[in-house]
Amino acid sequence: MGQGSGFGKVILFNEHFVVHGVPAIVAAIGMRTTAAVSRISGGFEYEDNRPATPKYKEDKLSQQKDSIDNIFNAMNLEKKGVRIVLGGDLYAASGVGASAASCVAIARALSDEFDLNYSDDAINRVAYEGEKGYHGVPSGIDNTASTYGGLIWFIKGKENIMERMHLARPVNIVMGNTGKVADTMAAVAGVKERKGKYPEKYDNIFKSAEEVAFKGRKALESFDLEAVGKLMNENHKLLQEIEVSNDDLDGLVNTARENGAIGAKMTGGGLGGYMVALTPEKSVQEKVASAIKKKGFRVLKTTIGI
Ligand code: MEV
Repeated sequence: MGQGSGFGKVILFNEHFVVHGVPAIVAAIGMRTTAAVSRISGGFEYEDNRPATPKYKEDKLSQQKDSIDNIFNAMNLEKKGVRIVLGGDLYAASGVGASAASCVAIARALSDEFDLNYSDDAINRVAYEGEKGYHGVPSGIDNTASTYGGLIWFIKGKENIMERMHLARPVNIVMGNTGKVADTMAAVAGVKERKGKYPEKYDNIFKSAEEVAFKGRKALESFDLEAVGKLMNENHKLLQEIEVSNDDLDGLVNTARENGAIGAKMTGGGLGGYMVALTPEKSVQEKVASAIKKKGFRVLKTTIGI
């Protein structure tokens, strides 16, 4: 049996802006999706045992099928005589890199089962093709984080730029899940449309986002967490301005800040899915997590910089 896994991720700065070539920063989180591939006598079988937001799997079913087809094509494999079982501790929901983690896990498990010996770079390329099933034309940031792990400075381009960043030590975060399944493809298309319609307004916002990325990198690398938190707040404002946040996300961001988070923002595709709060102190992480839970939302307590 072939086995593989992919990390979940959290975008700390500049989701959406990254699609248009603005630098972004992403961190892998400790939770993963796993895939097991075995051979069967014919046909194709698929079992999705990931824990998930209600309706997530149903809503993503047709995109997931396209994604798996893309993966088999990219690997020159026939989608026949194969059974894939997905699992792991990454809660499948919007905003946490669930689609990318599944693409990476499946590509790794297929490579393992068919003795293809794919390098990380090759897995990342295949996972990018898989991501197209979910995102249309993704920036590639999610599959990159899901493949390599760690903390990454990412710029989409003809050749993507990926630089590893280092944190002095791991930092606690809380991720709050609105429970709403979001369509990343539609959110990305919306930004593109409004950017074309209001070029001046969007140019200014995009310039500010670029500045936030550079300052964010400096703050993370010098371990100035107060500055990181402030920049996350600024980034959330910019994401509100390009209309990818919503009331649930804004509400959870405010709850996190009111309970001591030093910064909070939506993360990922937006319009639902997850937000992230920076809570270096364990007691603050607990307090923010329980405040979000009390409001009836699911939380994930994890660390970045692993
Ligand atoms: C989704 O996790 C991140 C987006 O920027 C889309 C992408 O980069 O492909 C919204």
